Amino acid sequence: MRSDLAPSAEAFGKVILLGEHSVVYGHPALAAGLPQGLRLEARRSPNSAEAISLSIPAWELELALTPGSEHPVAQAALAVLDVFDGPRTGWRIVGETHLPSRAGLGSSAALTVALARLVAPEAPVDAIIDASIVGERVFHGEPSGLDSAVAARGGVLRFVRGEAVQEIAMSAGFPLWILPSGMPRSTAVEVAKVRARHDRLPRLMTPVLDALGVAVDLGVDALISNDLMLLGEVMKVSHELVSGLGVGAPKLDQLVSQALAHGSAGAKLTGAGGGGCVIALPPTDPSGLRQACAELGVVPLEVEVVR
Ligand code: MEV
Repeated sequence: MRSDLAPSAEAFGKVILLGEHSVVYGHPALAAGLPQGLRLEARRSPNSAEAISLSIPAWELELALTPGSEHPVAQAALAVLDVFDGPRTGWRIVGETHLPSRAGLGSSAALTVALARLVAPEAPVDAIIDASIVGERVFHGEPSGLDSAVAARGGVLRFVRGEAVQEIAMSAGFPLWILPSGMPRSTAVEVAKVRARHDRLPRLMTPVLDALGVAVDLGVDALISNDLMLLGEVMKVSHELVSGLGVGAPKLDQLVSQALAHGSAGAKLTGAGGGGCVIALPPTDPSGLRQACAELGVVPLEVEVVR
């Protein structure tokens, strides 16, 4: 058993540009790493027999990683430590992040990736991703692995379950606004909703999932040729399609229509839906959208998607 942890480790947040949910069914997805991810620091605790503690004040998370704990974060964290035969006692881990939790921005994947890196700093990125997926299963049942890949690698990635990821060689970066709805949601619940609708209406849902996959490849073309108008149009269609899977919400539709009404070339829900966030390509003059967000009590996260 290992007894050491690295002093610190980091992971990216993630934003899915296109292809959430359809990625679970083997279609491609397009996602970007967010530099405002998670940083964990590990210090030896004075009592070497004490269970490892994990504290992430931004997520109001403070818990002991006690074997047998019913807390999903403790279960996931211990599952990740176990992959590398990591320590069970004698450490205090503290996390710092600007990512909101349970908002579709990859907080759980960032946590499991950063934990894997704390315990196995020498491990290759694919081993870190595999360990993260072991933890993600505790939270999300059967994750596609997309979130873990982006949390570990960053960049802009085309991801297909079970295949090597493709880094997208964008000709230029672009600005993106993330609009949090303030409604927390569970990825596992939203994935199960889609599964139930798919199983009830397979002939109707299969073409919707296929179309979401086509949208990803059009989005990749748009990024390679820096055609943000095309990307925006594909985002608009994807919002309608993914809402048709059963994971839309009135607040998400409201944020999308406000973004479009104020000149955004495209906006859509991102992540599992049901709540969480909307992404929007900001208009050249974003003052109207900024004002509309303020009136709705929404504070946009303004990021730059870079290679
Ligand atoms: C969640 O961030 C993305 C989903 O596609 C689920 C997954 O890929 O595992 C909804």
